[in-house]
Amino acid sequence: MDKTERYSYIEKAKEHFAGIMIEQLDRIEKMKKGEDWSDFEKIDPVIIGVCWGDGIGKEISKHAQRVLEHVLIDQKRKGKVEFRVITGLTIENRVKHSKAVPDDVLAEIKKCHVLLKGPTTTPQAGDKWPNIESANVALRRELDLFANVRPVKVPKEGIDWCFFRENTEGAYVLGSKGINVTEDLSVDFTIMTEQGAERIVRMAFEYAKKNKYNKVTAVTKANVVKTTDGRFSRAVKRIAGEYKSFGIGTDEWYIDIMTAKLLDVARRNEFQVMVLPNLYGDILTDEAAQIQGGVGTAGSANIGKRWAMFEAIHGSAPRMVEEGREKYADPSSMIRASAMLTRHIGHPERADRLERALEIAGQYEKKISITGRSTGATGEEFTSYLLDCLNDPDLENKWEEFSVKK
Ligand code: IPM
Ligand code: MG
Repeated sequence: MDKTERYSYIEKAKEHFAGIMIEQLDRIEKMKKGEDWSDFEKIDPVIIGVCWGDGIGKEISKHAQRVLEHVLIDQKRKGKVEFRVITGLTIENRVKHSKAVPDDVLAEIKKCHVLLKGPTTTPQAGDKWPNIESANVALRRELDLFANVRPVKVPKEGIDWCFFRENTEGAYVLGSKGINVTEDLSVDFTIMTEQGAERIVRMAFEYAKKNKYNKVTAVTKANVVKTTDGRFSRAVKRIAGEYKSFGIGTDEWYIDIMTAKLLDVARRNEFQVMVLPNLYGDILTDEAAQIQGGVGTAGSANIGKRWAMFEAIHGSAPRMVEEGREKYADPSSMIRASAMLTRHIGHPERADRLERALEIAGQYEKKISITGRSTGATGEEFTSYLLDCLNDPDLENKWEEFSVKK
């Protein structure tokens, strides 16, 4: 390649890069202005949007909606909550509009206060679908859902983790905006802003303070990814200083050793609250979920100041659908997400009870279990069993007995 050709490629790449920087600098200005948190005590009625998604999504979302409507039945009757099914978030409709989230669907979503969202297909080059952006990533960005909160609990092992995954920056936010500079050279981008790091780190420390945890662990690769992870790491250290007087300490682990430590049975229950950039959070929470019983058992809250979206941590499992196994998919992930939604809109006791019922049904009593195949229960059978556990007057006693067995 001669010099002129090389420069013309570089000029194009520079222009592309400039566009990205402008977008991000604008985003920083918005974050600086900030906005107030939604106050669910004042919102009447609370509108809960339900998006079924793709693959196993429809199946497990349906079960989760059944549970959620049960938990909020009186609120629904009194007109204090309203359920609204939003149908357009399917891969077919997204491909038809060539958009991660079609405009009319996004407008419907924005009319809701919170969203229960089933897993959606995320195409990759070479799939049968055009390579459009992930609906998750787009919704997290469009609704500014900056905190991805993922709890993982195994009471009998004393595991009580809560991951605070940064949700709007890192490798994700520009993941669909990488460039092929030449035929041979590809570049993706990762970013970290001071405001973006600060808001997620602060949320993790606030959570620790409110729930009486005494440590927040940062997970980075700041020894290698020095600039962006370095900024994140500094934010943790700085903010940690403000929480010392509340008896909350901090430590930092690199992502590689952290994946190993989660498998260290002797020490893993020492971790409590963890805060981490986007991609590390994605990876580590799948591992953590597996320890809890599989990704099908883990729920996730995507929290922003105005909106919040609750979902499973896993994808739409096309393989299960191809093999006709969708009815055996575990709805626990979406039900756990429903518990988090319930807490978010102001019903913490109901949420605690639902989470306990999930732990009793899924980890302790296990009268029936899900295997993802015809060897186990269907999602519908499991949901009925879960509702029995939830309505059991002896639930608290059973849970006490279960959780003290550390
Ligand atoms: C998750 C998922 C998503 C992510 C995918 C579906 C884009 O894996 O919520 O963890 O990578 O964030
Ligand atoms: Mg993931």
